[in-house]
Amino acid sequence: RGGDKMWVLGLLLLTFGSAQGLVRLDPLVDSPAGLIRGLRADDEQYAMFLGIPYAQVDENNPFGASIPQPKFATIFDAFDDSAMCPQMENFNKTIVGTLDCLHLNIYVPNTASSRNRLPVLVWIYGGAFSYGFASRYIYGPKYLIRHDVILVTLNYRVGPYGFFCLDTPEVPGNQGFKDQVSALRWVRDNIAAFGGDVNKITVMGESAGAASIEYHLLSKQDKLFNQAIIQSGSTLSPGLLEESGRSKPFRTAQQLGFETEDLSEAMAFLAKTDVKLVIAAFEELGLRGRPCIEQEFDNVDSILTDHPMNMDIPKVKDIPVLIGFTNKEKLAAYAAMPAEEFKNLNVFEDSLQKKFIYDEEFKEMEDIVRRFYIGDEELSEAVRTNLTDFESDYEFAFPIQTSLKKYLKTGAKDVYYYMFSYSGDRNYIKKRQNITIPGAAHADEISYLFDLSYEKDAASEADQRVIDQMTMLWTNFVKYGNPTPETSDLLPVKWSPITEHMYTYLNIDSELSVSARPYHDRMAFWELFFELNKNKLKGYREN
Ligand SMILES: *[C@@H]1O[C@H](CO)[C@@H](O)[C@H](O)[C@H]1NC(C)=O
Ligand SMILES: *[C@@H]1O[C@H](CO)[C@@H](O)[C@H](O)[C@H]1NC(C)=O
Ligand SMILES: *[C@@H]1O[C@H](CO)[C@@H](O)[C@H](O)[C@H]1NC(C)=O
Repeated sequence: RGGDKMWVLGLLLLTFGSAQGLVRLDPLVDSPAGLIRGLRADDEQYAMFLGIPYAQVDENNPFGASIPQPKFATIFDAFDDSAMCPQMENFNKTIVGTLDCLHLNIYVPNTASSRNRLPVLVWIYGGAFSYGFASRYIYGPKYLIRHDVILVTLNYRVGPYGFFCLDTPEVPGNQGFKDQVSALRWVRDNIAAFGGDVNKITVMGESAGAASIEYHLLSKQDKLFNQAIIQSGSTLSPGLLEESGRSKPFRTAQQLGFETEDLSEAMAFLAKTDVKLVIAAFEELGLRGRPCIEQEFDNVDSILTDHPMNMDIPKVKDIPVLIGFTNKEKLAAYAAMPAEEFKNLNVFEDSLQKKFIYDEEFKEMEDIVRRFYIGDEELSEAVRTNLTDFESDYEFAFPIQTSLKKYLKTGAKDVYYYMFSYSGDRNYIKKRQNITIPGAAHADEISYLFDLSYEKDAASEADQRVIDQMTMLWTNFVKYGNPTPETSDLLPVKWSPITEHMYTYLNIDSELSVSARPYHDRMAFWELFFELNKNKLKGYREN
């Protein structure tokens, strides 16, 4: 590579530019982790440090605790963000990844320095705990870093490597979350060297990434961040917690031709099997990575040891939170469903079973839910929207509203609530799946926050405005704990935090507007439903 070697002592970023007629120098940072050399972005506005290893997967136990990354003995060239943890990626459904994947990427605006420390935004990707990666393929920094924040995107293990849950000290479960904790510790310990303000760290995640943040808020681990952005994810979403994960290694090993009834034998076999074969077997069996309630062991870190439903969230005290969902979360699930498939759906029972003990008696409850959403209609294409609403409410809007209530009760600082409804030309999921039905599907907002490297179409004027608005709101929150410290042409409305009696929310559509209590009638139905049936909730414990 070109770029002169330069040793720097105890300082921050070097900002030599070609504009000064100097030889182009790559930015070099002397951090507690060692010397790290990055790259300058094409537009020269920021530096990129790609693929920094923050921990190492233990080859002997790739399903368990990571081992610390030793300090770099020579300059680490942070030039490559392509590492992915083992998974079936969700674009082309190919099996990819290696265990050398516990990497993070740092994007630093030129304005950062030891005298001008910038707030830090740490992104945790979604992907159903089964896939996802941190690279610029999806999570390009360009839109966010214009606003003078440092962006960090991190990889964590998913699927079997991240979420086997075996009730053993070696593989107690939730390893993916523990990887995130290691990465957050790395950020706390090193980000000052990059010009970051260690007292202003916001974590932000979507879907499984958002739920991850709520798990961190529930855990007894140190508080490693000051603020949280939680997009379309909740620990209370149905079907999230694993009920019994112990059979997974046996089944996976068996799929690969290794039969045993001894867990340590199965694990030893899987540990030495090629990761791609393990993922292939796991996928063939239709298995998924899922968080679980861990058994506690001495000297073993845990994240979750009780059902989130039974827990308060003391860590959220004094933390500002920005949280919300999209107006048609389950749009993509139903949009492309062929008409003839509707009659075979068992969606009400299947959904309710995920959260409730579904006995004879409960059938009556299912009937009430059904009537609420579709009256006496049969399941058919005619009720496509209604089923979309049912699942969107049940899986996202209601669990999120339940979390909000807990945050308020616990004394969260300011809680900003939003609904993303914009239906533009680049909604992330709708565009990938060619969906033209109006509304915003799960994850659709991502492409208004991040610059997707695979997206070649220039943003339309309307889409660009939404990009500008979203990234300004989000980074205002990162900087000030308040998305609209003042109004402007771009942000003409004042977005206030919720209070016990006023669940104000910002509706992000082609126009920004403020109202209160999204879907209040549907949410009231679910509040009553859960209150009435709380003794039937799986895992419920009377406090
Ligand atoms: C999916 O396939 C396309 C076309 O081959 C390729 O450009 C892209 O990088 C692939 N995406 C992923 C995430 O593997
Ligand atoms: C389905 O939803 C639409 C739109 O909200 C509503 O007008 C219609 O009455 C619903 N259908 C039934 C059978 O409830
Ligand atoms: C969407 O449409 C494009 C262009 O017509 C096509 O290449 C692609 O395969 C379609 N994708 C899906 C998921 O249907």
